[in-house]
Amino acid sequence: MTTHAWQTPELTQRFLTKTRAALPLAAAQLDVMLFVMQQALPDVTCFLDVGSGSGVLSRVLLEQYPQAKAVLVDFSEPMLAVARETLPADQTTVIQHDLNNTAWEDTLGSHAPFDAIVSGYAIHHLTDERKKNLYQEIFGLLKPGGIFINVEHVASPTEWAEDLFNHAFATALYDDEVAKEYSYDELFLRLKNQDDGDICASVDDQCHWLRDIGFQHVDCYMKIYALAVFGGIKPPSP
Ligand SMILES: C[S@@+](CC[C@H](N)C(=O)[O-])C[C@H]1O[C@@H](n2cnc3c(N)ncnc32)[C@H](O)[C@@H]1O
Repeated sequence: MTTHAWQTPELTQRFLTKTRAALPLAAAQLDVMLFVMQQALPDVTCFLDVGSGSGVLSRVLLEQYPQAKAVLVDFSEPMLAVARETLPADQTTVIQHDLNNTAWEDTLGSHAPFDAIVSGYAIHHLTDERKKNLYQEIFGLLKPGGIFINVEHVASPTEWAEDLFNHAFATALYDDEVAKEYSYDELFLRLKNQDDGDICASVDDQCHWLRDIGFQHVDCYMKIYALAVFGGIKPPSP
């Protein structure tokens, strides 16, 4: 399966109706994203959601900051169609673009720079080289003092540790699966072997990349198995 599978209604539907809610501590990760942002900034007037999908992260931020303007970027039309239907039109700008194409920055126009930039389980679909360059682009798109938070699927140190994630994920999906289409073991193996175009990098490596770029206060604010909430702050103007 290639990352372009994300542009299909089938994967969009499966992710939005089943997979996302089964991610271990998915709601808590968003709570942490919000908490860290609130500690960093007195207010958020404009933010960017990179690889936004249907806008789950944007929805949480708009609830917290009802005056804010949101810009969502993703290359999946089925995902963005849900964002357009469900987010307030007067506060959101939805841009369809491939993040592998560096021209994505040009589409942001006068919306940039941003107080905050977030991303949810999206950047791990890009190569490590592209991730690093994208983090540099994100740094450039932030206002001084602005914050970047990535809620992300990251590489596990060992296969056993990665299987903790697969088991937690399989358990949640299995509990929710009324028809029990597969046995638990089959479901676990499907998750372990599925290829959704993931190119995961460790959270340690990614925090190093952010520090090298110039982000401050870089940390992994929360981690549960292979899911991490990490980021940093662009230094304020002197
Ligand atoms: C797992 S979904 C997460 C969606 C959303 N951020 C969330 O938290 O629910 C991954 C998203 O990354 C997007 N994506 C993957 N590769 C992309 C690329 N090269 N350019 C733009 N979007 C991409 C997919 O279309 C999909 O919406």
